[in-house]
Amino acid sequence: MPFIDRDFINDLPNRVDIVGLINKRVPLKKAGKDYKACCPFHEEKTPSFTVVPTKQIYHCFGCGESGGIIDFIMKFDHLAFVEAIETVAGESGVSVVYDQTAKPVDSRFKRFNKLMSEVSDFYQSQLKNSAAKKKVVDYAKKRGISGSIAKRFELGFAPPGWTNLYDDFKRSDENVHDLEVMGLLVAKKDKESDYYDRFRDRLMFPIHNTKGNVIGFGGRVLSDKDNPKYLNSPETPLFSKSKELYGLYHCRKYSRRIDYILVVEGYMDVIALHQQGITSVVATLGTATTPAHLQVLSRSAETIVFCFDGDKAGRDAAWKALKTSLPAITAGLLIKFLILPNGEDPDTLIKRESVKSFSKRINDAQTLSSFLFDHIKAKVPFNTIEGKTLFLEKTAELINLVTYPTYRQQLVEGVAQEVGQKIDQVEKALAQNPPNERQVSEENLSWSDQSFQKKIIPSSVSSMKSLMSRMISCVINYPSIVNETESSSVIEERARRLPNSDVLVELIRYSQVETDLSKDALLMPYKSKPRIFSRLEELSVLEPFLSEYEAKEEFSYTLTAAEKFHERKSTKASISEAKTYEEQKVVMENIMKGKSNSNSSKKT
Ligand code: CTP
Ligand code: MN
Repeated sequence: MPFIDRDFINDLPNRVDIVGLINKRVPLKKAGKDYKACCPFHEEKTPSFTVVPTKQIYHCFGCGESGGIIDFIMKFDHLAFVEAIETVAGESGVSVVYDQTAKPVDSRFKRFNKLMSEVSDFYQSQLKNSAAKKKVVDYAKKRGISGSIAKRFELGFAPPGWTNLYDDFKRSDENVHDLEVMGLLVAKKDKESDYYDRFRDRLMFPIHNTKGNVIGFGGRVLSDKDNPKYLNSPETPLFSKSKELYGLYHCRKYSRRIDYILVVEGYMDVIALHQQGITSVVATLGTATTPAHLQVLSRSAETIVFCFDGDKAGRDAAWKALKTSLPAITAGLLIKFLILPNGEDPDTLIKRESVKSFSKRINDAQTLSSFLFDHIKAKVPFNTIEGKTLFLEKTAELINLVTYPTYRQQLVEGVAQEVGQKIDQVEKALAQNPPNERQVSEENLSWSDQSFQKKIIPSSVSSMKSLMSRMISCVINYPSIVNETESSSVIEERARRLPNSDVLVELIRYSQVETDLSKDALLMPYKSKPRIFSRLEELSVLEPFLSEYEAKEEFSYTLTAAEKFHERKSTKASISEAKTYEEQKVVMENIMKGKSNSNSSKKT
């Protein structure tokens, strides 16, 4: 990732035309000195989205979204910070100034990325040039894959034979070694330095990360006699199937606006839906939905629709997804379930029915609570008193997994209505089914999947606290990440704007001064403050263990999540106070002033 000069970043908003840039995306109407439109970030009929050119900001009084042009582009174009800067600069004819002194990313990853892209090119070229291409082309035709969709997803062909890939890349020992690390070449037993291709005679689906780099592959057999039907890349430094979602890159790239994300089960489902114009779709990679998936999804859309097959396996998978979702529910996140008719998957269904009918299914998907109640009702003799008691017990267990208070309350009310009892009786049942202590212990800040479910997005205070703890853990373990993520001074500045971030900011600063600090050296300055010191020691255990690369990604995601969280909270608070337009305008100006004050004057 290139590093952009910090002064350039700070100055950019003053050099571009916010009205022009936004107007290209959302047609604006002049209103006095300002401009207005219906907000692109929430549904509304009367315009409350305002752009104030004199202050270079936008703000929506309906939903509270606000910020400068970079925030807008990140949100509207679904881009990361650096990409947004490049877009704004590009569209304004300003050339980006890169920071030449910043350290480059781990050189190994640069190499891996380049190699994976070359491998993807190799498979794509085999689709056109291999002597055996007829069978794969016929197969693609049989499945109804259009040429343009094959191109969009960069589909390829691993030809039959054991060493096609190997032969093409073996010129360089480094390539061969890296391809083994990437899981694309497998070393022959007993014969060192002799390899065969992992993927043979398969239709190849490259898997991209959100930046668009190829990080792994899936391959499907061309004949149903062969198996396994799908083969995926193993876990590698670039690829972890519990974190990645197939199609997320394409979802962001090809959806103008992401109202929801449909989560399906297979590669072919994603592709078939894209071909019909349904682009907000991703697939898990042969695993159940994990908390890490949910974290990524909730950052990308406010509504997540899990789509499953109507058979027993599909229903079980849906139930699993529900349990994983409960702890992750937070303000503004809506989770829905779409169970398809038995024997259908999105790929088969979209070919049989119109896009309109399929979209209607998405629209009409069941809410999480209704799915939850129905599922449990079907398992108990609900019409008897015993059945209702059982229902109450079973739902209580699940409700106790919910950490977001408002949603928990809604579920409690729902249960009370279902069983025809008072709310305190339901609360009593909840108290008798306490959640697992180990999972909810406030001070347990480990980041294993389970604790993530409990901790990532609970009530407001502990949420910011746990995000902060997570960033601190990453920095203590890998001080170098603050120098590599973006320009380190930008990181420091971003951290400084968060509430109670003094310790984090200090750690970031120490890490910048000395690049190769040990944990002990980093914590040394806190020896005289026993409480902070012992907390930091606790946080120095990174669990589960993350590689430096993973920690860097984690840090950068967490920082963004914390910023969003903070911004939403403070904006919502002030806006709920303002009644008239004039009052709202004052609030907005204060918010922006507050932002620039905290930029320059706040001390650690
Ligand atoms: N999968 C896998 N390994 C297998 C089978 C399936 O990893 N042996 C994963 C793949 O990611 C696949 C998804 O599970 O896309 C769903 O598999 P399945 O429902 O069996 O197949 P479909 O997606 O319907 O595949 P197709 O339509 O190509 O038969
Ligand atoms: Mn299928």
